[in-house]
Amino acid sequence: SMNEAIIDFSIAATHGGSILLSEVNYLNSKPLDRKRILITGGAGFVGSHLTDKLMMDGHEVTVVDNFFTGRKRNVEHWIGHENFELINHDVVEPLYIEVDQIYHLASPASPPNYMYNPIKTLKTNTIGTLNMLGLAKRVGARLLLASTSEVYGDPEVHPQNEEYWGHVNPIGPRACYDEGKRVAETMCYAYMKQEGVEVRVARIFNTFGSRMHMNDGRVVSNFILQALQGEPLTVYGSGSQTRAFQYVSDLVNGLVLLMNSNISSPVNLGNPEEHTILEFARLIKSLVVSQSQIQFLPEAQDDPQRRRPDIRKAKMMLGWEPVVPLEEGLNKTIQYFSRELEHQANNQYIPKPKAARMKKGRPRHN
Ligand SMILES: NC(=O)c1ccc[n+]([C@@H]2O[C@H](COP(=O)([O-])OP(=O)(O)OC[C@H]3O[C@@H](n4cnc5c(N)ncnc54)[C@H](O)[C@@H]3O)[C@@H](O)[C@H]2O)c1
Ligand SMILES: *[C@@H]1O[C@H](CO)[C@@H](O)[C@H](O)[C@H]1NC(C)=O
Ligand SMILES: *[C@@H]1O[C@H](CO)[C@@H](O)[C@H](O)[C@H]1NC(C)=O
Repeated sequence: SMNEAIIDFSIAATHGGSILLSEVNYLNSKPLDRKRILITGGAGFVGSHLTDKLMMDGHEVTVVDNFFTGRKRNVEHWIGHENFELINHDVVEPLYIEVDQIYHLASPASPPNYMYNPIKTLKTNTIGTLNMLGLAKRVGARLLLASTSEVYGDPEVHPQNEEYWGHVNPIGPRACYDEGKRVAETMCYAYMKQEGVEVRVARIFNTFGSRMHMNDGRVVSNFILQALQGEPLTVYGSGSQTRAFQYVSDLVNGLVLLMNSNISSPVNLGNPEEHTILEFARLIKSLVVSQSQIQFLPEAQDDPQRRRPDIRKAKMMLGWEPVVPLEEGLNKTIQYFSRELEHQANNQYIPKPKAARMKKGRPRHN
């Protein structure tokens, strides 16, 4: 059905939005359980795809974003639609708005972004989450927290299931994010137990797709950018370390299923299909049809050998599992990045994070 079709607005030509808007109006005429939905961080990578899905499903969507890492461009095709509102607001400040559901995604997500201003990352995940839970309590909304696999830290068990308590260094360079998300989960369950707020917690694993950040720093975007620019694809160590990535549309479907389920305990959402770093390099090089070489560099320090979600809970309780084949997701992402590069001066973009406020370690595959 139209509802299930994946329409990737970041790749599709939008013709000023008019064609797409008429499709949505058509959907709106169908009887449905229309909800008022708030998405914090809705102008970001995941949030903007979630916005597309919920708008296509005919809901009223309010996006709140401070544009720290998000961009108005990611949701601009909805501006002017009567079901859509975009509010420039920082979740560290209180907000009052009548809604039925809150997808709380606001938080920088990639290491260069969350390490850029660790105090702000902490405030967003703590004070920001308190504000959103307070709002959920006042208006009787259900809140879904976008948590992360990073709550498992440097795990001692593989793959990680939801029962695992994690292994996090509370004073390490990633702590602002990892501990911020851990306490955000704690807050959700405190509000559930003490105030009866309905909460959902998604522990999201590595995700890729269009609108992801060029300076994301993880293998997929690094290799695509290197391949598109004819630069060597840099592999640290032997390349036998594995990574598992889910395509963004799979994640978005999981988030919506979880929100509308009755599962209040945390649920992993990720793709358990592992590939070695070298496989990623070779596949991306061939899909881009790139002349780039694969360059082997010394092994990076504390580069995890494996990362893989256990998604049995999501499969059993939500009937959810990733369905987008890696190659298909990569093709769409390559298409997106090549368009992005066309917008850069001289078609050149060397991935380079903003200068962090702390000493940087050696490069690693995150
Ligand atoms: N992308 C992944 O692989 C991944 C993995 C695990 C968890 N997550 C979580 O998913 C969520 C979305 O991540 P993403 O990859 O889309 O990142 P993103 O950086 O693209 O999106 C985050 C959005 O939040 C906004 N934001 C940040 N601080 C804010 C504040 N104080 N007030 C209002 N808005 C604020 C940003 O401007 C941005 O639009 C995050 O909570 C992240 O922790 C993502
Ligand atoms: C959740 O919903 C399912 C199916 O709708 C039902 O069988 C189950 O009992 C519910 N569980 C709880 C904890 O309410
Ligand atoms: C991906 O793109 C390549 C090269 O353009 C093409 O040969 C291949 O069929 C595409 N694969 C999928 C799954 O879309």
